[in-house]
Amino acid sequence: MPRSRSAEKKDNNQGYGSASGSAPGTGTGSAAGTGSAAGTGSAAGTGSGSAAPDAAKLERGKYVATITGCVMCHTPIGPQGPDMTRAYGGGMEIEEDFGTWISPNITPDPDTGIGTWTDAEIIAAIRDGKRKDGTMIKMIMPYMFYAGMTDDDAGALVAFLRSVPPVVNKVGRGDLKLPDMPAPPIPRVDDTSDPVKHGQYLTGLMHCAMCHTPFGPQGPDLSKMWAGGFEMKLPPMFGTGSLWSSNITSHPETGIGKWTEADIVAAVRVGVRPDQRPILGPMSFYLPLWSQVTDADAKAIAAFVKSIPPIDNKVPASTFKPAGPPPGGPPPPGGTPPPAK
Ligand code: HEC
Ligand code: HEC
Repeated sequence: MPRSRSAEKKDNNQGYGSASGSAPGTGTGSAAGTGSAAGTGSAAGTGSGSAAPDAAKLERGKYVATITGCVMCHTPIGPQGPDMTRAYGGGMEIEEDFGTWISPNITPDPDTGIGTWTDAEIIAAIRDGKRKDGTMIKMIMPYMFYAGMTDDDAGALVAFLRSVPPVVNKVGRGDLKLPDMPAPPIPRVDDTSDPVKHGQYLTGLMHCAMCHTPFGPQGPDLSKMWAGGFEMKLPPMFGTGSLWSSNITSHPETGIGKWTEADIVAAVRVGVRPDQRPILGPMSFYLPLWSQVTDADAKAIAAFVKSIPPIDNKVPASTFKPAGPPPGGPPPPGGTPPPAK
């Protein structure tokens, strides 16, 4: 898959500053999570018929969908967990302190999904947070982080979305009380020749900073970008207590400065810490997707995370107790082993 290699990115936190504005979505979206979203990446069928775009483009689009996690939020939750027979069909409904959000149907169904949207309209929704009708999408949708997605990746993602089976599911609009925020002007480049820059690109798509930045009534605390401390609660069906996102800066005591790159790779792909304790909450919901991150990409993510300057910020220990196996299937024991490649 060709990707832009030209432009330079300036600093590690670039883009994320504003980006983190979206933090609220976060805990949340995750809740949505539903570990099982698992089947996900795959679930996305690819019912591509005749006029199918080339296989490499679809393959890349599927991978972009896997790391960005669209299916986690855009799939309805049934009594058994996420209903993967209606993957991307929208209708996940989550109540927040600031209102309720309902994820739209993003399958190609022309009436209830986005089948009549042009590629450019879908890409504007993903990267700019703008709907076809010109209104702003609320920032539960991580467009602030997807804002840096390259044209190639955005095009591939749209091709993939068009290949998923249409789901007829008419979904209402939520009533979130959140300000409309324009997406930050992040350069849309992915410099794959430099692991740190490539890792920065990937962590943007994976919106790590959306969760790993403290968030309060005034919004994200940008002086503590990546330094954790965002308190998250999940709906009771998933467990009780609070999760505090970790400080993932390179601070040796309060961050993960002593972790090796392999430790960070294991956190993202296997969901465990160096002492083998599982990482609970939203990240575990992403595991079925993130266990599919390639070796090269995982190493780049780790290289970038290691390069984040230290911030001394002691985060409270999470008190979260999972409510047994997540609906939709047992949790991967220690996580799904990463694929060979
Ligand atoms: C954290 C949850 C979350 C994730 C992850 C997420 N979305 Fe969304 N998305 C939402 C919510 C919630 C809305 C509606 C927000 C509102 O009510 O304004 C939305 C809106 C949209 C819309 C506008 C559709 C319409 O009919 O208004 C599109 C298109 C979209 N998302 C595509 C995507 C794609 C593609 C991805 C993956 C790259 C993705 N979303 C990832 C939660 C999410
Ligand atoms: C949806 C929210 C969310 C996203 C997105 C997210 N994290 Fe996390 N992460 C958390 C929470 C919450 C914890 C703490 C979990 C616990 O207490 O068990 C955590 C824990 C961690 C830990 C363990 C640190 C420690 O000291 O034990 C690492 C490392 C980590 N995350 C890295 C990442 C990286 C890298 C990304 C992006 C690829 C990412 N996270 C994306 C919410 C998130």
